[in-house]
Amino acid sequence: MSTKGTFKDNKNVPIHGWYPYVEGFARNFILEIIEEFTKKGENIHDPFAGTGTTVLTANELERNVTYSEINPFMRQVIRAKSIAPSLNSNIEELSQYIEDVLEEAKKTPNLEEARTIESKAFRGTEYYQDEALKEILGLKNAIHKISTREEFKDIAACALGSIAVQSSTWVRASDLRKRVPQKYNPENFSPYDEFEMKINQFLKDIQESKEQKVKVNLLSDSAFDKTEKRDIDLVLTSPPYVNGTNYFRNTKLELWLTGAINSSNDLSDLRTSAMTAGINTVSSRDREINNFSFVNNYAKKIENAGMSRENYDKRIPKLVRGYFTDSKIWLENMYNMLKSGGHAVIDIGDSKFYGIHIPVDELLIDIGISVGFKLIESRFVRKRNSNDGSPLKQVLLIFKKI
Ligand SMILES: C[S@@+](CC[C@H](N)C(=O)[O-])C[C@H]1O[C@@H](n2cnc3c(N)ncnc32)[C@H](O)[C@@H]1O
Repeated sequence: MSTKGTFKDNKNVPIHGWYPYVEGFARNFILEIIEEFTKKGENIHDPFAGTGTTVLTANELERNVTYSEINPFMRQVIRAKSIAPSLNSNIEELSQYIEDVLEEAKKTPNLEEARTIESKAFRGTEYYQDEALKEILGLKNAIHKISTREEFKDIAACALGSIAVQSSTWVRASDLRKRVPQKYNPENFSPYDEFEMKINQFLKDIQESKEQKVKVNLLSDSAFDKTEKRDIDLVLTSPPYVNGTNYFRNTKLELWLTGAINSSNDLSDLRTSAMTAGINTVSSRDREINNFSFVNNYAKKIENAGMSRENYDKRIPKLVRGYFTDSKIWLENMYNMLKSGGHAVIDIGDSKFYGIHIPVDELLIDIGISVGFKLIESRFVRKRNSNDGSPLKQVLLIFKKI
């Protein structure tokens, strides 16, 4: 199956590949889109910036970039990656800081202390094997303890976050899942060595990068926030799909290791402000549901098809209604931020629940038109598969503000 439009092609691209993000798209996929719709010096906005692919690529192509991203760890990754080329001239100072962190990180807590800290954070669930837990906490403490410039801390935190899950006994899917013991890391696996390797790669990428004027600005944390900005030429984004991804739960180790949360209790506040796209965001949402009739038809079909099944989850129709309610809020915001004649290019995929196909792309077109957009094109990107193996797709919706 084609990997076009997925993060896979980013993995080995310097800086872009620093933090592997399953939900991201790739630099080479959006390069052409940026060039098709904008010129140098124009303004691009990504309301769901993720690991910052739009942000970095637009910046490389000398466009001004603004973004929103609700996940504090992902914002830290974007800051680290977008500041990286400008740290070229401070490489010695940065390398010294990294050496200090590596030295300090050797002071690991003892196992009993380490298990108590982990248990307080995650209500008794264990995420790491004994030695790995001590080392990962040694690194966490060192980054927290050594004072330096915020940019340097962002680089170190990004490196620690990028080894958080691989160093654990868990694996990332739409949520974190416990590995079977046969898939645990070998006994000689060392998070400390992994971190050192990662950070050395980061330093090399920084040294080899082309110095760039940083014109990257966080506009707001959430895509739902209304802003005064009215000069955007292109909105280029991939909003969450309606597929159950637990955007916070699946980055909870990164959020904890970098100090964005103290325990899994803190995840609930983050979930309330996130787009309703995963099952666990349904009950925490506090925005009123908009009962669009064209969405309701699908929600009712799911209710009818699911009710007779043993594994029926009542939250799924709510998820669908919540998703499109939220879509109207952010699409309206994008419409207001764009200049007249500006475009919104939206990467989206359809979904299937209990055998009912949800044409997410078509429903988003209806919502886009209802907020004032004209649909220029729905561009096919690649085939995907739903959990039951039936075909789904990924498309780019191209809207214009007339
Ligand atoms: C599909 S991913 C975007 C990936 C991105 N295109 C990339 O290449 O990395 C969607 C992102 O939307 C973020 N998100 C969810 N709700 C949000 C909200 N209300 N405002 C801003 N970002 C949000 C999630 O944290 C996630 O990182």
